[in-house]
Amino acid sequence: MPRRTFRERIEASSRKHGSNIVLALDLEYADSNVLLSKSLEILEDVSPYICAVKVNHHLVLPLGLYDGVKKVIAAAHALELPAIMDCKINDIGHTNEVIASHYFDAGFDAVIANPFVGWDEGLAPVFKIAGMRGKGVILLTYMSHKGVPEGYGQKVLNSSGLERFQYLVFAEKALMWGADGVIVGATYPEKIREISSILKGKVPIYTPGVGVQGGDIERALKAGADYLIIGRSIVSNENPVRSARLFHEAVKTHRKSASE
Ligand code: XMP
Repeated sequence: MPRRTFRERIEASSRKHGSNIVLALDLEYADSNVLLSKSLEILEDVSPYICAVKVNHHLVLPLGLYDGVKKVIAAAHALELPAIMDCKINDIGHTNEVIASHYFDAGFDAVIANPFVGWDEGLAPVFKIAGMRGKGVILLTYMSHKGVPEGYGQKVLNSSGLERFQYLVFAEKALMWGADGVIVGATYPEKIREISSILKGKVPIYTPGVGVQGGDIERALKAGADYLIIGRSIVSNENPVRSARLFHEAVKTHRKSASE
């Protein structure tokens, strides 16, 4: 049987768990042992309510990729959850390839990359190695924070010399390059809508920024988001399981009304 792609794996996980929530496992503890054990504990406890886990530098820097983080990835896989590395790859091609290779070697199923670096000697090697290894590449398209209009929201000239917003050019590149997903902040539902009208369901939209950053689940889903990335509102809550369950219920309700 042919190996399943990252997109197929996360879709299967989403169906199995009845959830489109990607947990951003962004914990902060000064003691690395506590950080690892708390990360593993929360991941396992909230696993019925999520479809994947996203790891960021919060864990990679203190725990080490081939040490603690590898254990987190193994725990996610044991729970049948794909693991995404939020490394925002953003360098020259050779370095990008080294970065992606390490994350894939450690077991990650997908990496997040920045399309600002372009294709040739930029992200081409990342897509190549991901394709060869059945891994995914998810592209930043419009981030969730306040300063995002300064970069992703600029007007630029596209390859035909026409003035176009940067994020729309990136959405077109996501289609052209065969990306496995794009990231668009839930804090900007109108951008989700615009980008969704370009992607037309061919590339899934991942949206961070729900909860602490002020994004609203219902508006994000109605605008066309496929997956919600949620971090602090779950992991920093005094009761992460309860919080994850409430998000899960809210997603179910709003997904139903968004599809009606
Ligand atoms: P919170 O705690 O705000 O965490 O729910 C969100 C997580 O997602 C990351 N993040 C982004 N990652 N593009 C990304 O690739 C974005 O636009 C973006 N906005 C937030 C953030 O670092 C955290 O891990």
